Amino acid sequence: AATSSPRHFLELSDFDTPTLRRMLDLAASTKRGDLADKPLAGKTVALIFEKPSTRTRVSFEVGIHQLGGHAVVLSSKDMQLGRGETAADTAKVLSRYVDAIMLRTDSVAKLRELAEHATVPVINGLTDVSHPCQLMADILTFEEHRGPIAGQVVAWLGDGNNVARSFIQAAARFGFTLRLATPPELAPPAQLVDWARQEGASIELTADPVAAVRGARCVVTDTWVSMSDEKDGGPTARHNQLAPYQLNAALMQHAAPDAVVMHCLPAHRGEEITAEVIDGPQSVVFDEAENRLHAQKGVLLWALGAN
Ligand code: CP
Ligand code: NVA
Repeated sequence: AATSSPRHFLELSDFDTPTLRRMLDLAASTKRGDLADKPLAGKTVALIFEKPSTRTRVSFEVGIHQLGGHAVVLSSKDMQLGRGETAADTAKVLSRYVDAIMLRTDSVAKLRELAEHATVPVINGLTDVSHPCQLMADILTFEEHRGPIAGQVVAWLGDGNNVARSFIQAAARFGFTLRLATPPELAPPAQLVDWARQEGASIELTADPVAAVRGARCVVTDTWVSMSDEKDGGPTARHNQLAPYQLNAALMQHAAPDAVVMHCLPAHRGEEITAEVIDGPQSVVFDEAENRLHAQKGVLLWALGAN
């Protein structure tokens, strides 16, 4: 177990811009094949899932393998964590076995408790309020396709959910303008928007999708029903509320002609995005999905100081 304070990766807001840039540089280097072989040789990472996952699960497991490390993939249902063992005790025990822990959970409190008691780095693999690994991949993807994101306009459409909230933090750290078009009831928390603005971010909130998309260089959306919304019985209400925010070809007419379309996936064609747009020439969603692998390698190399 580490003796100094572990390098947790919990929220983008925890970091200054140069540190996030360092992680992205590591991601780009490893993607180019520029790093020494097997920098995680002898290291083990626990990946804990309290909710389903395709990309996060596979990209972490494969990425760790490619870096020479070993991943232990755990469903909380199969752990004592799933039947009441505390996150604190789980953190203390796992810290004796593994070199880092990734957690996907509905409960940001559980993530924080895990991080507080772990003596190894803890990585946020999505909570109900944020998804920082996704944003690292999204920044990498935008910049690969269109160059520096600073000063660009990004439009977010639909639900002010976990991914939207990480976009707000990213706007503060990477210097792009973020316009969010959401139904007023699904707007991101005012406290987070205020924080970002105090950090110098340009965040524009509107209920009008055309106003948000106008001239934007990147247009992003996400599911109308996130995993944390499934149990509230409200999918139909959300579909009605969010229908005007569908990302379709008519809306894309208002974006910059060379705008890229992003979506963290999984997508629901005909709901938040049409098949024409997500499968069309402006969509970079599969590059974005691939970049989860590379971006997380950058985060892991930074967190484990293995570079
Ligand atoms: N984008 C993303 O996190 O996908 P998964 O839920 O499949 O991990
Ligand atoms: N907002 C979505 C993202 C899935 C990767 C959810 O939380 O379900």
